[in-house]
Amino acid sequence: MSAPLGKDLLGLEHLSAEQITLILDTAEPLREISERAIKKVPTLRGATVVNLFFEASTRTRISFEFAEKRMSADTVNVATSASSVIKGETLVDTAKNLEAMKIDMVVIRHASSGAARFLAERIESNVINAGDGTHEHPTQGLLDMLTLRRRFGTLVGKRVCIVGDVLHSRVARSNIWGLTKLGAEVAVCGPRSLLPTAIADFGVQVFDRVEQAIEWADALNVLRLQLERMTAGYIPSLREYNRVFGITRERLDRAPRDILIMHPGPMNRGVEIDSEVADGPHSVILDQVTNGVAVRMAVLYLLAGNAPALAEAARKATADD
Ligand code: CP
Repeated sequence: MSAPLGKDLLGLEHLSAEQITLILDTAEPLREISERAIKKVPTLRGATVVNLFFEASTRTRISFEFAEKRMSADTVNVATSASSVIKGETLVDTAKNLEAMKIDMVVIRHASSGAARFLAERIESNVINAGDGTHEHPTQGLLDMLTLRRRFGTLVGKRVCIVGDVLHSRVARSNIWGLTKLGAEVAVCGPRSLLPTAIADFGVQVFDRVEQAIEWADALNVLRLQLERMTAGYIPSLREYNRVFGITRERLDRAPRDILIMHPGPMNRGVEIDSEVADGPHSVILDQVTNGVAVRMAVLYLLAGNAPALAEAARKATADD
């Protein structure tokens, strides 16, 4: 069996446009499995997947777990607080001990940038990065792209502005790499203190005022202020941030076109986004969550190396129903 993505999914920076498109195309028919009364296909029967989460997560961990279970994999969840990591065991020792119990894949979230690659280079199992520090969150980038592609039909020429705390955001990096490879125009907007100093190297446009971003964009991907990663006073206050950069209904009402509103979650309502917008007609925030399960099913499946068979099975299953 060929493995079209290679052994691991560590980020989108080093994937080709063809590989990203393959993941999105594979995810598309897999969405239907989650609509069934019995949400299960046998594709990964016999595979054992460990979800190794060293950082808090609601959406990503549960979404991976649903994806694994809906494809009939056996899953084990390991959280830092309940593992021997708190006794001083290293990341690699933890993973090697899991491998000694004969596992096939590891999904890892870690606070350190590069942790997923570090692990992937040291174990045989497939490694999927579920978010490493401020580096990348590839499945979030992919589900964002799937959501946009389903709404717009194509990403080519679409204008996506990432608004907020880009400096600390792995979601921003995965979005920038993925969207630009698939032909979208990407911009960022936020206080200069929350943009990387080398932002120009990413090949994106920069807006200093959120009103300019709203005038330009077809979609806004609104980011949370990652206060837990901030080591200095990056903004005067949350109230001031909302006043200057918050996505409010009043601001959207002045947009020259309908704008899709995205947010990777978790949201801080009343800070980066107002509830009227998060729950309003432009919001695709819960579509992103739904698409996340299909994207993760696609990634698990493609890393398992049998893409044509599942795509055919998923196509047949969709046609038969
Ligand atoms: N989008 C995202 O990564 O959310 P969680 O931190 O809840 O997994």
